[in-house]
Amino acid sequence: MRLLIMGPPGAGKGTQAARIAGYCNVPHISTGDIFRAAIKADTELGMKLKGYLDAGQLVPDAVTIEVIKERLKEPDCIRGFLLDGFPRTIPQAEALDRMLVDLGVRLSAVLNIAVSPEALLQRLTGRRICRKCGTPYHVVFNPPAVPGVCDRCGGELYQRSDDTEETVKERLEVYTKQTAPLLEYYRKQRLLKEINGELDIEDVWKEIQGVLRGLC
Ligand code: AP5
Ligand code: MG
Ligand code: ZN
Repeated sequence: MRLLIMGPPGAGKGTQAARIAGYCNVPHISTGDIFRAAIKADTELGMKLKGYLDAGQLVPDAVTIEVIKERLKEPDCIRGFLLDGFPRTIPQAEALDRMLVDLGVRLSAVLNIAVSPEALLQRLTGRRICRKCGTPYHVVFNPPAVPGVCDRCGGELYQRSDDTEETVKERLEVYTKQTAPLLEYYRKQRLLKEINGELDIEDVWKEIQGVLRGLC
């Protein structure tokens, strides 16, 4: 299975991607997670990236495309993959199409998680993430059993530096201008599957499972 999960910031891509990756037994590849790991590790790449992420701006296409090109060459991608947060621009989508041709494979589907802008702001400003395993929580919608502690690994929960109200607004604008046009790109290729992301986490997952069953 080769899948893309799309949707605006805070739609629930990471939350659902973790489930999909387990269900389909494919690696979950999030460009945002890769970039944050590079920043945390203080690599040369990480230092260049921090400014873009903290401002809510996209990392330049050339850098992002190169990162994915290398990642898709890893042996775990032979059985398939789930891309979360890539592509985000038309040039990235065109580059992905070329990579798929080179690999001799096709996409199975593109899942679009649709959520209204008001709900997104609330989701992102209340989000907390595990420092150790990356599991996302929400102080109201998906709280951990013990505040500030990850249910899965006991790790400490933190707030992403781009989850402030001001940066979230910028990210939503960037999404509307640069990423939303991709929906039409994949609709034309008849790959787009619309998911109602307004439902609660379990019900969104049920909708996604319905789509995945049709593909297996
Ligand atoms: P990235 O990390 O991809 O961030 P994003 O797209 O803004 O999306 P998020 O991770 O914030 O949200 P999500 O949809 O994963 O939601 P989640 O499941 O966590 O990118 C960050 C930055 O990296 C970008 O701004 C850019 O700078 C750079 N970047 C990344 N990819 C790039 C690319 N391809 N090109 C250029 N630059 C790139 O859920 C959110 C919250 O809501 C959580 O608290 C969760 O518990 C809660 N929640 C989830 N589902 C529900 C539900 N159904 N009901 C209620 N609450 C819910
Ligand atoms: Mg995410
Ligand atoms: Zn954890």
